[in-house]
Amino acid sequence: MQHASPINDVQQKLEQTRDQRVSELQELLRIPSVSAVSAHHDDCREAANWVHKQLAACGFETETVETDGLPIVSAEWTKAKGAPTALVYGHYDVQPPDPLNEWTTPPFEPTIRDGCLFARGATDDKGQVFTHIKSVAAWLDATGKLPINVKFVIEGEEEVGSNNLEKFLESHKYRLACDIAVISDTAQYGNGIPAITYGLRGILACEVILHGPHQDLHSGVFGGAITNPVNALAKMLGTLHDDDGRIQIPGFYDDVIPLTDEERRAFADLPFDEQAYCKSLGIDAVAGEAGYTTLERRWARPTCDINGFFGGYQGEGPKTIIPAKATAKITCRLVPGQDAHQLTQALEHFLREQCPPGVRFEFKTYHGAPAVLCDTSSPYMAAARKAVEAGFGQTPVMIREGGSIPVVGSFKQILGVDTLLLGWGRNTDNLHGPNEHFHLEDFHHGTLASAHLWAALSQ
Ligand code: BES
Ligand code: MN
Ligand code: MN
Repeated sequence: MQHASPINDVQQKLEQTRDQRVSELQELLRIPSVSAVSAHHDDCREAANWVHKQLAACGFETETVETDGLPIVSAEWTKAKGAPTALVYGHYDVQPPDPLNEWTTPPFEPTIRDGCLFARGATDDKGQVFTHIKSVAAWLDATGKLPINVKFVIEGEEEVGSNNLEKFLESHKYRLACDIAVISDTAQYGNGIPAITYGLRGILACEVILHGPHQDLHSGVFGGAITNPVNALAKMLGTLHDDDGRIQIPGFYDDVIPLTDEERRAFADLPFDEQAYCKSLGIDAVAGEAGYTTLERRWARPTCDINGFFGGYQGEGPKTIIPAKATAKITCRLVPGQDAHQLTQALEHFLREQCPPGVRFEFKTYHGAPAVLCDTSSPYMAAARKAVEAGFGQTPVMIREGGSIPVVGSFKQILGVDTLLLGWGRNTDNLHGPNEHFHLEDFHHGTLASAHLWAALSQ
């Protein structure tokens, strides 16, 4: 008689616990752990405790580490002597749920509809993190052990730039020693097309404020005689791009490592339906830097975007004022070669130089992170492909992504390891927007892929 292989027992355990795992995830999703809003910081701590308890209950040695900001949950199971060690990263914080009135069901009342679990954080990143917690739980329950050593770092400040994470990685460098990092915080390529992401864009985030008169003034009495801060800022921001979509900040493209022909061909080989893409977004045309395809623009070209533009009267009906100030929130997505710190200075200089008399220029820097490219030919990558295929029943495609996960660069720099970016979500899951959801099918396939990953990495 053939001996049952441990992965079959694990898979069976996952089958038996399907509904329970979904309802436990709902508990976590009920906690409004919005890191950007200080009134929610107690909720963030509650989410950290919840994650702590889950990992401890699996049999992991678990610790919640305080930082200058929100706590980091760190856990490990290292009894697989001689086997490799994987470090799983994820984040328990979520984006603000706004605009609230566009949610069909409230963001922190997780609801199952049409095969999806709707809640803020369902896919980004609570639901995806939970797949790894539950896959190790299933291994330990079914077999009493894991095929490799696994460590977890679950932080609470990813959505605000992970500003306290590097210090933690530095001071816990030896405890976090590992062979490979694993993150599920990206997406599949498309419906039914799982993916492994080997590159992410970096980011820089800042804010510009133009201060004009000490208070709003009558625009008939004063208009035309003084600088209007909103007019001035609009003009300055209008100079960021030329008509070909090229960013005009001097030196902005100097260090960009261009796409190779091979990569351009690989991108072009991926199925992409531009019309369907536009339709899904409610727009009538794509746009961007001249000379590049949509996938190239999204994954491998830098950007400069205004994320918010404020100033003056925002209420109903007209109001005739010269606003006292104007503000723009700006982020640039960066590609390999570009330096966030250097380009933040270049951006500040470019705008400051253009500031007209009569307004005062203020510039705030929020955060920065480099772009990353991971080794696609490593044995870890080969193991990940096998695991994703086993979990989803489809061979994954290799993609890059336009979003940013600051920790990936820090893992390389501080721990000296590459990351496997195994996204179980979909870009259509409304992450950061209203009605965020996670397909339950993706949740279950992702958990199974994760369970296979530990076995595949052990070989
Ligand atoms: N999970 C996302 C990043 C992501 C999403 C990568 C989809 C690829 C595909 C992450 O939580 C996120 O939103 N990151 C921020 C970074 C930041 C605030 C420093 C981002 O990309 O805007
Ligand atoms: Mn995320
Ligand atoms: Mn996010």
